[in-house]
Amino acid sequence: MASPIIAPFPASRLRRLRRTANIRAMVSERNLTPANLIWPIFVTEVPGAEGEIASMPGVERLTLDGVRRAAERAARLNIPAICIFPHSDQDSRTEGCERAWDPDNIGNLAIRAVKEEVPDLAVMTDIALDPYNANGHDGLVVDGEILNDETVEALVRMALVQAECGADILGPSDMMDGRIAALRAALEREGHKHVAILSYAAKFASAFYGPFRDAVGASGRLVGDKKTYQINPANRGEAIRCVARDLAEGADMVMVKPGMPYLDICQAVKEEFGAPTFAYQVSGEYAMLEGAIRNGWLSREAMVESLLCFRRAGCDGILSYFAPTVAEMLA
Ligand code: PBG
Repeated sequence: MASPIIAPFPASRLRRLRRTANIRAMVSERNLTPANLIWPIFVTEVPGAEGEIASMPGVERLTLDGVRRAAERAARLNIPAICIFPHSDQDSRTEGCERAWDPDNIGNLAIRAVKEEVPDLAVMTDIALDPYNANGHDGLVVDGEILNDETVEALVRMALVQAECGADILGPSDMMDGRIAALRAALEREGHKHVAILSYAAKFASAFYGPFRDAVGASGRLVGDKKTYQINPANRGEAIRCVARDLAEGADMVMVKPGMPYLDICQAVKEEFGAPTFAYQVSGEYAMLEGAIRNGWLSREAMVESLLCFRRAGCDGILSYFAPTVAEMLA
């Protein structure tokens, strides 16, 4: 961008355009509307596990009935999409992750429940083996190694079943290499050519996922860490290469995750590729903001501001646990 021409004071008084709410609205460079939001929700099949998640105050694990109500709430608030995260029975999690492609696993039941209740609401899913994996990893683990190509085959099976259940947008969050091309080819081959892929393309190995792992019951289980597949938080160039690769393999949309500490990546991705770009304001970011708001240390405006800043950085939309609350505030 060329350097802006700015007249010397007092010809230029930048406060002239900040004087009233209407004038400020006229010159607002970005906006935030419910159309920019994707609402991640948790669904559980475990009796008694429904209700508030301790490390994410205000966010609940839902029953299938709760999922139906959330879908209606999203539609009422003009939120275009909901993203489903399953909390499965611990005893059903295996090393082979077989339940990931069970048409009646809790994630797939939730997809069908939303589609029955509000057919127009876009349903996004998560493609990764962790909800059904005995050791909490996103991929198959053999002798301590997270296998790549075998995992991609499993992810394809998982994805095809989700597409069959009515998912509109698949969100591969696993960070295996080659998964986008494999998913795209399988979707075309099996008659799901309209199912979109929102790739978690620039997903960093982050400590900000902690509360999410509590929510899906993976916290105590994760053996080791995810650093052999998720990106080092120090690496911007690698993140850009991951996005380039996923777009070349057929991703329709890309995501940066986490969000707030990674706005430089959001901006670089949008400027470099121009593709639909999303950020995930993850569980740890939610916990920090919500915790401070509940203590009276921050005002509720911080929620809206945090999301507007993603728009300024170039994001088309944001996955946020604040989605319904902010949509209500914007209404
Ligand atoms: C796992 C997955 C994670 C999140 C979304 N999908 C956690 C992880 O990679 O360990 C994190 C979301 C959040 O923290 O809100 N496939």
